[in-house]
Amino acid sequence: MANVIVVGAQFGDEGKAKVTDLLAKNADVVVRYQGGCNAGHTVVVDGETYKFHLIPSGILYPGKICMLGPGMVVDPKAFLSELKSLTDRGLDDSRLKLSATAHVTMPYHLIIDAAEEDSRGDNKIGTTKRGIGPTYADKCARSGIRIEDLLDKTVLKTKLDWMVPRKNVILEKLYNLPALDPKAILEEYYEYGQQMKKHVCDTSELIFQSVQNRKNILFEGAQGTLLDLDHGSYPYVTSSSPTAGGACIGAGIGPTIIDRVIGVSKAYMTRVGEGPFPTEQTGEVGEQLRQIGTAWAEVGVTTGRPRRCGWFDLVLGRYSVRINGLDCLAITKLDVLDDFDEIKVCVAYKDSETGKTYKDLPSIGSSFQRMQPIYQSFPGWKKSTSSCRSLKELPANAQHYLDFLAEEMDVTIAIVSVGPKRDQTVVIEDPIHGPKRVLSKVTQ
Ligand code: GDP
Ligand code: IMO
Ligand code: MG
Repeated sequence: MANVIVVGAQFGDEGKAKVTDLLAKNADVVVRYQGGCNAGHTVVVDGETYKFHLIPSGILYPGKICMLGPGMVVDPKAFLSELKSLTDRGLDDSRLKLSATAHVTMPYHLIIDAAEEDSRGDNKIGTTKRGIGPTYADKCARSGIRIEDLLDKTVLKTKLDWMVPRKNVILEKLYNLPALDPKAILEEYYEYGQQMKKHVCDTSELIFQSVQNRKNILFEGAQGTLLDLDHGSYPYVTSSSPTAGGACIGAGIGPTIIDRVIGVSKAYMTRVGEGPFPTEQTGEVGEQLRQIGTAWAEVGVTTGRPRRCGWFDLVLGRYSVRINGLDCLAITKLDVLDDFDEIKVCVAYKDSETGKTYKDLPSIGSSFQRMQPIYQSFPGWKKSTSSCRSLKELPANAQHYLDFLAEEMDVTIAIVSVGPKRDQTVVIEDPIHGPKRVLSKVTQ
């Protein structure tokens, strides 16, 4: 029995869904704990590609219970359309559970997300425009609408009668946009509630029962550590807590039930949206990474935007190990580096203002914008890795590269992914039952 959290250790899109899908084979329950349909998770199984936004990637295995936890924000339209696309492909949806207390993304959240972005001009965040920030803002302001509210027309009406006129002031006065009609929203969203009703339950209690019954629970993170509201590159972050700690709050479970935390990183790095990205390559290398990566989907799954590409950043890698308490790491997309003559890794930063160098970042503050990468260079392996299935089959230079990353971050690399398919995977160490991470260094 093991309860495992899978988290993105970079800026999102690390290949979490592929890793979740792999691990879900041995799980009984798969839980999404934060975020909403800003996530775009791709799984390739038997030549078929599945793209998930709200529904846990574990749904592809028959019989697994999949949950959308209370820490998520759910756009009912997006949920129902994603569900339909899966049931149309023959998936049984009776295993899907939706928390009654997850917050609902309402039409005004979508409009305000887009309008706020436009109004920011050069300071825009580059959000996915899925209403994520405004939905979480209302949740924190204690004026959000929760899934259970959609099931009670009287409650929903009371909430909308108070909320919509307030949002209309913002829409009309601040953004010069048309007002919304609370009555139309009431009818539309009550109807969505009726369609979602059969999935709605107390997911936190269900997880606890699963724990008591010694079931294996997999917590599937969305976004990534550097997009975390508290620990990411604020304000260029999402509005939830994708880091491992967020799983406890977002799923409604205590930290004592967690056995293991697995981080997922690409063998290089990408970012979608605005914000600092110290190892970003805008020239030939970036284009090469994007070109190869694009063939392998280096465009946002949710928005179709090209991903910004760059070299692996060990300073951020060490930071992710610390913030999430990672036990081990899965490195994905090693195959994208197959053709490079030279591969660079950022081993430290130099502050462009003070000249000070850093191997570790205490926190990500405003000085992050000033950090310049110091690189170490590695020879490429110039050989396809996509059919390798064991560590010893990987070219020596690829093994050397992975060893260097593991040693520098003081974490075990348990899985290496060499292609999008399930079997394009090298398992170096059992990611679930391997030894707990040993802190080899003692700091004073
Ligand atoms: P997530 O949001 O972290 O789940 O990642 P995305 O699904 O947004 O992006 C990862 C993309 O890379 C998807 O298109 C995956 O199918 C693909 N992918 C995952 N692992 C590998 C790999 O090892 N090699 C290659 N070439 N593609 C991969
Ligand atoms: P997955 O789960 C990559 C980014 C957006 C933007 C910032 C804020 O597929 O890894 P938001 O819409 O959340 O308010 O946008 O966060 N972002 C992601 N980037 N992968 C994601 O999800 C992301 N979800 C949000 O591009 O920079
Ligand atoms: Mg993604």
